[in-house]
Amino acid sequence: MAEVNLLDCYPRSKRPIKERSKFITEDHRQIARRFGREFFDGDRLYGYGGYNYHPRFWQDTVQRLRDYYSLSDDANVLDIGCAKGFMLYDFKELMPRLTVAGIDISEYAIDNAIEAIKPFLQVGNANNLPFEDCSFDLVISISTIHNLPIEECKQALREIERVSQKHAFVTVDAWRHDLEKEHMLQWNLTGLTYMHTDEWKKLFLDVGYKGDYYWFIAE
Ligand SMILES: C[S@@+](CC[C@H](N)C(=O)[O-])C[C@H]1O[C@@H](n2cnc3c(N)ncnc32)[C@H](O)[C@@H]1O
Repeated sequence: MAEVNLLDCYPRSKRPIKERSKFITEDHRQIARRFGREFFDGDRLYGYGGYNYHPRFWQDTVQRLRDYYSLSDDANVLDIGCAKGFMLYDFKELMPRLTVAGIDISEYAIDNAIEAIKPFLQVGNANNLPFEDCSFDLVISISTIHNLPIEECKQALREIERVSQKHAFVTVDAWRHDLEKEHMLQWNLTGLTYMHTDEWKKLFLDVGYKGDYYWFIAE
């Protein structure tokens, strides 16, 4: 169980936190939380403002994950909150013998997933994974489980622990001090469970999550 930034190769974007927060209403949040077209490919006020594949997003990160976990060529990898499957696509480009699986609550994202990876994706909830115990060498969940209410978020962490036989890596919304908390509350659209990094660490221990973790921080 380690705090490790395995997304340090992911391109950083300058987030216009103050700008966007002026315009976000409860209606935007409600619509974003449906994780439909508006969240992925609608106006920026509802989410991504266009969620499209580009190799610069995940290509370096999947190499980083492979190296950090010394993944063998024929390992099994699960991505929870896989959206349109972009990270798994880049994993398969790097390691064609890998067995991959992705799950996401969004029917829209799975329907619009990258074609080559669609057969390995399914709609489902992180809090109830349709996989056997210990069935993956690596379970990854990026910016996803904080979208569940706290009890379900805890259940999702237990599920990750249950299906992973070796490694797991999650990232969650968090802050380290009051200014970051203020920014998080301004930026947040869909998250339901967010807290100080120390509280997350305690929660991981409480639920028996033994994987690795890192934070999304609105700086
Ligand atoms: C911020 S996006 C991150 C997508 C992707 N992991 C990435 O980093 O590009 C959050 C994702 O979590 C998915 N999601 C939200 N609640 C979920 C749940 N209960 N179970 C599974 N996926 C969920 C959303 O549909 C969305 O694809």
